[in-house]
Amino acid sequence: MVKKLIIAIDGPSGAGKSTLSRLLSNRLNYINIDTGAMYRTVALAASRVGIASDDGSGLKRLCAKIEIHFERNGQFETVWLNGENVSELIRTPEMSMLTSAIAACPEVRDSMVDLQRQMGENGGVVLEGRDIGSVVFPDAEVKFYLEASVQARGRRRYDELILKGLDVDLAQTIKEVQTRDEADSEREHAPLVCADDAIVIDSTRLTIEQVLERMIDVVKSRQ
Ligand code: DC
Repeated sequence: MVKKLIIAIDGPSGAGKSTLSRLLSNRLNYINIDTGAMYRTVALAASRVGIASDDGSGLKRLCAKIEIHFERNGQFETVWLNGENVSELIRTPEMSMLTSAIAACPEVRDSMVDLQRQMGENGGVVLEGRDIGSVVFPDAEVKFYLEASVQARGRRRYDELILKGLDVDLAQTIKEVQTRDEADSEREHAPLVCADDAIVIDSTRLTIEQVLERMIDVVKSRQ
């Protein structure tokens, strides 16, 4: 029988984690867990009730109360907060910046890490985020660290937002990606790091298909 693995994909924003995690999980028939979407959903919930990103105890209570889950419909994955589809609402540039601050709160991290471990404990999962291979599942059988130049990542983010009809500026989007990288890498709790045993893939000059094939080769060798 083919072993059901835990696959971790970490890296900075815009490196291609979401796309590749979705494609890889589809190909393997695994569950896909977008942990960034979970932090984004907490940020949305906090902004609605006016809890600040430095209010650790307020955020802890909020995390205990809300219900977050994912649903997959063919290629499309949706994120739900207390029964409401918030997939679009969590992806605005404002929510991205707020999420970076909310995700730095240790109480929020503890709560999301618990949930992610429950979701992934039986294997057959691809989890993507910043701390999957370092904190959430340090014993994951396969760890990837995806990276790309900040220009390439900013351009991808810009193209995504334009496709959604948002009025954004390329230089500003690159700057926001850079600011968020710094915040995610320099924070005290579970910063973005490349685990020692992660396989690093720089996607700047690779197509999505090329990265996916590399990943599949690694996964096959570990199964
Ligand atoms: O991957 P993303 O852009 O949707 O992530 C949104 C924010 O959440 C980003 O600023 C980093 C943070 N995040 C985190 O701290 N830990 C994770 N495991 C995933 C995301």
